[in-house]
Amino acid sequence: MSTDPGTAPDAVQNSSTGSSTDSIDDGWFPESVAARYDSSTDREFDPAVVERTVGVLAELAGDGDALELAVGTGRVAAPLARRGVPVHGIELSRAMAARVADKPGGDQVEVTIGDMTSTRVPGAFSLAYLVFNTIGNVTTQDGQVDCFRTAAAHLRPGGHFVVEVGVPPLRRMPPGQDTVPFAVAPDDAGGGYVGFDRLDVVTQRFTSNHVTVGPDGTGRFRWLPFRYVWPAELDLMARIAGMRLVRRWEDWDRTPFTADSERHVSVWQVIGS
Ligand SMILES: C[S@@+](CC[C@H](N)C(=O)[O-])C[C@H]1O[C@@H](n2cnc3c(N)ncnc32)[C@H](O)[C@@H]1O
Repeated sequence: MSTDPGTAPDAVQNSSTGSSTDSIDDGWFPESVAARYDSSTDREFDPAVVERTVGVLAELAGDGDALELAVGTGRVAAPLARRGVPVHGIELSRAMAARVADKPGGDQVEVTIGDMTSTRVPGAFSLAYLVFNTIGNVTTQDGQVDCFRTAAAHLRPGGHFVVEVGVPPLRRMPPGQDTVPFAVAPDDAGGGYVGFDRLDVVTQRFTSNHVTVGPDGTGRFRWLPFRYVWPAELDLMARIAGMRLVRRWEDWDRTPFTADSERHVSVWQVIGS
């Protein structure tokens, strides 16, 4: 359930030691994070992965419009719009949203600044989607249910809602332990990088933590708060919002989801369609 270290904000962001260009209204993705977001080395930024993602979404959108919850810098929305799918995005961070129009296709993406748990935009969509673990950025169960309600409120009959998120890594955590490492990468030149999740199994909240140490021994510690959510829990959230599960894959290549899958791409459809 990692986020790329390049996209994780400083642990102290939103406090007096954050970057002077950062606005507290942009939440965990202010200017200092937005500026480096698209140069991430995370697999999600691999053009082949983006292509597969957009392929699945374009097929589900069909001849209708798509709504991306938490559109970010338009990593997915811009190439989807470039394929001819009209895309509207909801995004909390002005700093992230400011980058959408710079991408090929991004000038065709309309963005509304707002919280995806409550924002409503005009239109009836054939597809709503919330990718790259971002449902976990909403750190309460009620808030996550409200994301499903937002999707349902915008979908036309037959419309689909897609979520891409990691499976909580609890099977990798022995009893008594609360930490799961996802990367230990010493650098031959000295220093290196360690990434780990720290989970609270009572609240389902966790932090994704990134420690980067340079060759001179000086380091940086960054973290980001999340709430992990089970696939079956998501299905219940969908039912609460009037949708039912129609597909669950391990990844955008449509590999079947199994007990060993570490992430899933799930598709729900409006009930009664
Ligand atoms: C990991 S980025 C994903 C961006 C984009 N969907 C992508 O796949 O590249 C998470 C994004 O979610 C946004 N976000 C977090 N909570 C939000 C909320 N409650 N409402 C709207 N956007 C939110 C952040 O500002 C950030 O741009």
